[in-house]
Amino acid sequence: MSVVRAYARVLFVGPDLAHGSLAELFQRQLLALRGASALADSVDTTAGFDGLWQRVTACIDAGDLPLLLLDLDPQTSSPYLDWLRSELQRLAAPFGVADQLLVASVKSGEQIDIAAAVALIERPELHLGCVNVPELPSAHAWSCIPTHSYRVLLCNGPRCTRRGALPLWKSLREQLKAAGKLECAGGVHITRTQCQFPCDQGPTMSVYPPGAWYQVRNSDELTRLVEQQFIAGQLVPELLMRPLD
Ligand code: FES
Repeated sequence: MSVVRAYARVLFVGPDLAHGSLAELFQRQLLALRGASALADSVDTTAGFDGLWQRVTACIDAGDLPLLLLDLDPQTSSPYLDWLRSELQRLAAPFGVADQLLVASVKSGEQIDIAAAVALIERPELHLGCVNVPELPSAHAWSCIPTHSYRVLLCNGPRCTRRGALPLWKSLREQLKAAGKLECAGGVHITRTQCQFPCDQGPTMSVYPPGAWYQVRNSDELTRLVEQQFIAGQLVPELLMRPLD
């Protein structure tokens, strides 16, 4: 049976924990579940990981060990956890405390399931140590440039969201998947972005190639774009914000 460890500190780590509506919900739930001190132990990684490395180093210096990092990144994955653990292992090695750093991960979709994350603290069988972390492979799928035919940037900025961009995103994924074109060889790689700037003409979708700016206002227009641009490989002139150069 796994023994519950008494952690000196638990850090809550992920993007969008400090600003925005999701952060507000996260902080409200964390306050209710763990009290005010836990809020100070959340580390927002939206802008990068330097802040996390500083926090971990400070914990090591202060003897706040063992330390558990709860990974709240909605995009978490096995390669990401391998990387995170190997970075922590490297950070702890000079102090000989890599065995005092552990990671647990909750994959929770768009909105963080903070109750599930907190429950993980009592599940030592789901905690991953930072010693003997598997070597990151020197060649793996995410080291190669993918063979997609198109890269699509769909704006999910505030004004495009108000104009219906979120359901369009869901529908775009579904239609591409049904057509066998979603993120595969010869298919379409799609990414949601913040504001792309021509808000008043949105919802905005940029398509590369050919470097087209499309205005996609409803599901009918989206279907036309999928069929004509991504399946047939032809421009949809009536949806262009401006003619191609
Ligand atoms: S919010 Fe989408 S282009 Fe500005």
